[in-house]
Formats: sequence, C-alpha cells, structure tokens
Amino acid sequence: MCVNHNERLSFWKQQNDDVTGMMCNPDALELDVSERTEIINALPDLKGKQVLELAAGIGRFTTYFASVAEHVTAIDFVDKFIEKNKRECSNWFNTTHLVADVMDLNFENERFDFVFINWLFMYLMDDEIRILGDRINQWLKPEGLFFFRESCVSSSNPNRAHASTQYRDPKFYTDLLMSNFILLSQGNVAIYERNYENPNQCWWLYQKI
Ligand SMILES: C[S@@+](CC[C@H](N)C(=O)[O-])C[C@H]1O[C@@H](n2cnc3c(N)ncnc32)[C@H](O)[C@@H]1O
Repeated sequence: MCVNHNERLSFWKQQNDDVTGMMCNPDALELDVSERTEIINALPDLKGKQVLELAAGIGRFTTYFASVAEHVTAIDFVDKFIEKNKRECSNWFNTTHLVADVMDLNFENERFDFVFINWLFMYLMDDEIRILGDRINQWLKPEGLFFFRESCVSSSNPNRAHASTQYRDPKFYTDLLMSNFILLSQGNVAIYERNYENPNQCWWLYQKI
C-alpha cells in the first residue's frame, strides 16, 4: 500500500482539533485521561531533559513534557493542531512548535535526551520507519531514550479501522529497532484491553546503543 504525503495530510486536516479527532475514536473522552496516565507512568524521569515529540497533535502529551522537562520540541504536519498545541502550552516558555512532516526533519546529531511518539509509525511505510528510526537514533544523545506507542494488529477503535493505516505485528517494530537500540521495557495500554479486549495497543521504551 502506498499513501503519499498529500493523502496523509489531507486525512489529518479533516480531523477535528480536539481529543476525539486526535484519538479517532468516539469513546475518546472516556479513554483520554486513563490512556495518558498509563503512558506517562511508563515514561522515564524527564527532569532537565531535552525532549522531541513527533506527531504531537494538539498537545495531549506536550503539556506534560513542558511541565517536567527542560525543553520540548513538538512537531506535527497539521498547522491547526500545532496552533492548538501552542495555545495549550502557553503557560510554559520551554517549548518549540514546528509544522513539518516527520520525514522532512533535520536536527543535528545528539541534540535530544528523549524522543516520544504516541501513534505515528502506523501511518508510515516500512521504509520510512527504517529511515526515521535511524534518524531518531542519530538525534539522541549517547544513552538517550526513545518511547513509542502504536496500534498493532488492529485498530484501537473496534468500529473504525483506517484504510491508510498499517496495523503491524509488534514484532515488526522490535525487529526493526534491535540493531541500534536496547529494549528497556514494553507493555500495552490496559484501558483498551479492559474496554475492548484489545491487548495490542503496544508501547516500548528503548535506549540508544
Ligand atoms: C492519532 S494522532 C496522535 C496525536 C498525538 N500524538 C496524541 O496522542 O494525541 C496522529 C498525529 O500524527 C500526525 N501525523 C501523521 N503523520 C505525520 C507526518 N508524516 N508528519 C507529521 N505529523 C504526522 C497527525 O497530524 C496527527 O496529529
């Protein structure tokens, strides 16, 4: 399946700049707080750290990073999401917001301590993930950490799978990253298991080798 940049962008531009639009799920308001709490509890201590958040959307996680880290750089390719994200972060002065496709980013090596993704790889092609995984590795400082979460096997929303989304076997991701990252921990987002019997909302915490 090949989805080009314009098709992906136009899909996301049609989504609302709210929690339901971000989660693509009519149950979003019920899931949001539990999901964020679970994910935040799985993250390392970010005090004093330089954070890069890819596909940051309206800032469901960006505000948390702004509140605990030294600095957060939040990227998304939809300008209305980044505008809302900026407004949500207006209490903090340690954020940078960029409208960009993640595949067009270019940071200097060893710039960040921590890279965070909540749902992005599933919208990218296999080759793009390989390229981006290598770039993330280069952008991280020695022993830097990388957390990501993806919908594996099936959609997070049992009533709405997306034609342009790839619900991969989790092994795809672990195999891909094993050459230049060490796996520190992994898990799944339990609220999806409880509500939908879906154990495949998977997350991983890696360390740069
Ligand atoms: C499911 S939403 C998740 C947003 C946010 N991470 C959250 O958890 O609330 C996916 C986000 O990825 C962004 N996105 C998808 N493909 C992208 C790309 N190639 N470059 C930048 N952003 C992208 C979309 O605009 C959207 O905001």
